[in-house]
Amino acid sequence: MFDPVETLKEFVRFPSVSTDSTQREGMKGARDYIGGLLKSVGFSVEEVPTPLHPILIGRRGGDPTWPHVVIYGHYDVQPPDPLELWTTPPFEPEERNGRLYGRGAADNKGPLVTHVSAVAQLLEENSNLPLRITFLIEGEEEIGSPSFGRFLEEHKDIFNADFVFLSDTGSPNASQIVVTTGLRGISCLEVEATGPKQDLHSGVHGGAVLNPIQALTEICASLHDGDGRVNVPAFYDDVRPVQDWERDELAKLGVSEEEYARFLGVPGFHTEKGYSPFEGVRFRPTLEFNGIGGGYQGEGSKTVIPSKAFAKISCRLVADQDPVRIQKAVVEAIKERCPATISLRFSFAHNGAPYLVTPPGKPNTPKDQPEALAIAFREADAAIADVFGKPPCYLREGGSVPIIGDIKRITGLDSLMIGLFLPEDNLHAPDESFHLGVMKNGIAVSKRILSRLASVKQSAGS
Ligand code: BES
Ligand code: ZN
Repeated sequence: MFDPVETLKEFVRFPSVSTDSTQREGMKGARDYIGGLLKSVGFSVEEVPTPLHPILIGRRGGDPTWPHVVIYGHYDVQPPDPLELWTTPPFEPEERNGRLYGRGAADNKGPLVTHVSAVAQLLEENSNLPLRITFLIEGEEEIGSPSFGRFLEEHKDIFNADFVFLSDTGSPNASQIVVTTGLRGISCLEVEATGPKQDLHSGVHGGAVLNPIQALTEICASLHDGDGRVNVPAFYDDVRPVQDWERDELAKLGVSEEEYARFLGVPGFHTEKGYSPFEGVRFRPTLEFNGIGGGYQGEGSKTVIPSKAFAKISCRLVADQDPVRIQKAVVEAIKERCPATISLRFSFAHNGAPYLVTPPGKPNTPKDQPEALAIAFREADAAIADVFGKPPCYLREGGSVPIIGDIKRITGLDSLMIGLFLPEDNLHAPDESFHLGVMKNGIAVSKRILSRLASVKQSAGS
């Protein structure tokens, strides 16, 4: 049996940065490594090519009456920059104070190794486990999963399953685990504003033409109102109301606003009127500026009216907002507010649907919730309470794993998501790490959920 921590160290060594075309080797290394690991556990592994980074499918078939779970993970990671802010190099994993440091240790290599370890241990204990398992491991999650839609259409058979199981979300601390009930969707776009056909001398021509930086920043500033709401017509039209039980769960989070502010290093919050910062992240959609530029960026000054300015914008969406509809609404608002002397060009990056699932036993739980999913939720609750010492809370997440919404929309499958990242894990930032105590407990929880699923179905069917 492989050692989970040593395995994770080896996996983290591969610089699998999906957005960086110079890291193809690292992508291949990570893919081959996790594929090899699945093979060593007895899975048959298929590599499905995509225009960019292949998707891995690991299959353990069996009797078609056995339950079938799809376990999702991603082998790609975010770029490690800025390198100088890492205590030890990002792809030279190091264990310190009960954590493993390295890019991707938490997002998502650690949680993925957690589930592979759970499956390996279960199968070692019982090679006849009556459970079909399909691992679905993609390499484009961090760039918006551009190949996944097509893959989904062409591999619908994989989703002939009971539910999807994954850990690619967070929890507030190592004893309070969250079962994630929602993911925000995402809609990204870039707008380029052009004024004069070339940069102009700001003395010779200043006063005659509209500066595209001024025009674009005025438009950007108009996209929120004084109450912190997104000022785009129809933006909130489809937002599904939050349930009372969701507010009760949020109250259990156990983090104060002061602690959160201190953690972020901000003197105070800026939220949509009527919502706490926690509600803003978990329940509400947003429009953010991820980048803005134009004109002279070098040292000193340069008296110029630039020809162009740009802004990168992303919206985080909640159920039931439609990313394409939101993208159109934002584009329309920008066009409408654009002065006549400025021309605009839009380009579009990823779009992903939001996702929401209701655990069993809530007032709004669907009457037809599949039995296997309900069993898995209940077992997750009991296992987390036993292993981590406290029952989980059920919360929506602020981040996005866009394919989870797509899987629901296209195949009808729901997901059981157990949050194994902690706030200190520094996702997407220098000194990313994964808490090895959480990993150990996560393996135990994953084992219990999977083995219970197998036994329940077996006795129900016999
Ligand atoms: N695992 C994260 C999403 C996440 C982060 C969930 C923190 C919960 C807490 C995922 O890998 C991710 O970063 N997704 C991107 C998607 C985007 C590139 C389309 C995100 O949310 O920015
Ligand atoms: Zn990520």
